[in-house]
Amino acid sequence: MVAMKHTSGSDKLWGGRFEADVDETMLLFSESTWADAHMIAEDIWGSEAHALMLHECGINSTEHTREILRWLEEARRRFEAGELELKVELEDVHMNVESFLREEAGPEAGGRLHTARSRNDQVVTDFRMRLRRYLLDIREAAAELREVLLDHAEKLTDAPFPGFTHTQHAQPVTAGFWLAAHAAGLERDDQRLAQAYLRTNQCPLGAAALAGTSFPTDRELTAKLLGFDGVVMVALDAVQSRDFAVESLAAIANLMINLSRMAEETVLFSSPAFGMLEVDDSFATGSSIMPQKKNPCAGELSRARTAAVAGRLMELITLLKALPSGYNRDYQHDKLPLWDACTDALATLRVMIGMWRTMQFKTERMAELAGAEFASATELANYLVRERNMPFRDCHELVGSLVGTLVEEGATLDDHERVAEILTEHGQEMTAEQVAEIVDPLAVVRAQKSLGSTNPDEVRRCLEQLRCNLAVDREEQQDDRQHLQDAFEETMRRVREILGEE
Ligand code: ARG
Repeated sequence: MVAMKHTSGSDKLWGGRFEADVDETMLLFSESTWADAHMIAEDIWGSEAHALMLHECGINSTEHTREILRWLEEARRRFEAGELELKVELEDVHMNVESFLREEAGPEAGGRLHTARSRNDQVVTDFRMRLRRYLLDIREAAAELREVLLDHAEKLTDAPFPGFTHTQHAQPVTAGFWLAAHAAGLERDDQRLAQAYLRTNQCPLGAAALAGTSFPTDRELTAKLLGFDGVVMVALDAVQSRDFAVESLAAIANLMINLSRMAEETVLFSSPAFGMLEVDDSFATGSSIMPQKKNPCAGELSRARTAAVAGRLMELITLLKALPSGYNRDYQHDKLPLWDACTDALATLRVMIGMWRTMQFKTERMAELAGAEFASATELANYLVRERNMPFRDCHELVGSLVGTLVEEGATLDDHERVAEILTEHGQEMTAEQVAEIVDPLAVVRAQKSLGSTNPDEVRRCLEQLRCNLAVDREEQQDDRQHLQDAFEETMRRVREILGEE
């Protein structure tokens, strides 16, 4: 008989076949506590659910399970008290928690937790659990921002505002309309995040290393105890797929793009050249040399964070492409892009909520710019189509040459007398009073009639719908939160039951 090696050169949980301890450089290169620190609570909860399942399925005895759960609860207590430090030499959170358990509960009980489980299914279970919590945080914060925008928009449905294309004055709109557009974008962000949440919240645990297990496990039980909506059925897919992460990060990147566009407008429109927004002092910063400066840094930094998130998305999809079947160690680098993107998105949302809540809208200046730069020209052309039964192209041509003449003369559409004169000369008789009525920015806005247009009545209707959708989204978010809370409590109830505490 060949003697079994009982003492190895390595003190790792996987040290059995190794003669030598891992090289320091290799250890530092391969450990993942930096990424795992985000999901310690999840690792403990996941381990408890797994232990409960092993017991329920008759794989581990009550006595062993009690020891396991007792020390996992102690690990949680220490974690919550800030006393659980992840040791780098133990490689990752899974090994840290299990080592703690083995030390405290002893190898006889502690060594039985990992039956029918691999770090490969464990790590992606923790990942999905932590990510879904971040996704909920982000959705809730985005909902708050939507509310802030809608609050402002409802008060500004009749406030003329310059509408731009190519950053050039295009047509008058209202500030309410402009804000409603941003709120509508954020609504779709919630939909994308909710979709990503659905596919993230599926349980890979029980897939073991890749092939499933020869123990009579109950994957549906662990999925339920961990608050998942179902199991990732094919074990190999469960350990190797990360599309939930790509999809989540893409949804976050989309959100950031929307936030960065709003951020850009806080920078642009608060610049004195526009002077339409005033960022509150509490969200601006000063200059170290120019005493008069008030800088819109919150907006600028939001743009910058968007760059970081976009980069993280690129990092993740590049990491994942062309990996062969099964778990690959490359996956260790799949979490940080998400944690960074999530924390960047949350930080950005929080500052945007505060900045937009305290934002001052300079309605006088908005109105002034709404009619500037011949912005009412399109409506003047529309008027001729309607009232003089002319083809639109001819009206476009006529108003175009009118603008050309006014520019040459240094006049504007507000020189009603002159506008009437030129139009009359071109065979379109008109009085100065008529011109005044047509080109007034608010009149232009009110003249819009189409579905979803800037007409204040239409904007009010849209805002009502956006409010209603916000309430529905918030309810869904609360349900998702509650579902996770209920699952955790059910796990705790079963833990206490075995510990004889109830
Ligand atoms: N720390 C690894 C990760 O983040 C999980 C460990 C899996 N390692 C292994 N040798 N199977 O993906």
